[in-house]
Amino acid sequence: MGERLAGRVALVTGGGSGIGRATVLRFVAEGAAVAVLDVRGEAAAETVALVPDGSALALTADVTVAAEVDAAVDAAAARFGRLDVLVNNAGTFGVLGSVEVIDEADWDRCMAVNVKGVQLCSRAALRHFAPAPGESAGIVNVASVAGLVGIGWASVYCASKGAVVALTRQMALDLGPRQVRVNAVCPGTVLTPMSEPLLAVRGGGDLAAGIAMTVEKYPIGRLGTPAEIAAAVLFLASEEASFLTGSIVAADGGMTAG
Ligand SMILES: NC(=O)c1ccc[n+]([C@@H]2O[C@H](COP(=O)([O-])OP(=O)(O)OC[C@H]3O[C@@H](n4cnc5c(N)ncnc54)[C@H](O)[C@@H]3O)[C@@H](O)[C@H]2O)c1
Repeated sequence: MGERLAGRVALVTGGGSGIGRATVLRFVAEGAAVAVLDVRGEAAAETVALVPDGSALALTADVTVAAEVDAAVDAAAARFGRLDVLVNNAGTFGVLGSVEVIDEADWDRCMAVNVKGVQLCSRAALRHFAPAPGESAGIVNVASVAGLVGIGWASVYCASKGAVVALTRQMALDLGPRQVRVNAVCPGTVLTPMSEPLLAVRGGGDLAAGIAMTVEKYPIGRLGTPAEIAAAVLFLASEEASFLTGSIVAADGGMTAG
């Protein structure tokens, strides 16, 4: 497709499904070698099977467990000889509910995957980033429109994605002097295994009705696709975005524009 990541090595968390898988496919098409990390090792392997031999590596790790993350990131760097790009995409919606009803364990798990996971994976990747003079390394965090506006009954998800937005800006300050750019993409609703059950709940058990209700909030008149989010991630990860750091890019069909 292109050469926007030619010679670069990337690691995509949550690369076994949805937006993460689309990002892996796009990165490989743009010339990158990609480590595909997922807590579901079989899903990571399925993604790797979709790309040419040798261009991707499946890794099994839970982003909330430091030892697993460190071992996986080290394995990626050892296999491909360097690491230039980290996409912190692994995430969970957690459970629906207002702050009054969410269990402590459910709250903690969602915050751990969506926020602590970003810290652990970034920390591990930073040990390997060594951008050449005139180049940069890049971290792209996949946040959400839920980090920009409130979404009814999504209390812990909104809190976690708001934290990712804040952390993106903060990391940009600390890492800019090392030529590491840190940006976030905030996707609107995209049909994936994560969003489908939520859309069905919104539609009272009817997925099509849930999609129709959701689309009303999108000026562009439809939901997004994983490939459209991957395109925004690719831009931020590539040297075309060499002057972007601390940027929060809504890829949301205008959902947060009003
Ligand atoms: N789908 C949407 O509408 C939407 C909208 C905005 C933001 N997002 C965000 O995009 C990202 C990807 O979501 P998706 O819709 O593609 O979801 P998905 O469920 O299709 O994929 C998520 C992947 O992350 C993996 N994962 C989950 N917990 C993990 C952990 N602890 N360690 C390692 N891997 C783990 C899962 O196994 C899965 O393969 C998430 O951060 C999500 O919050 C999604």
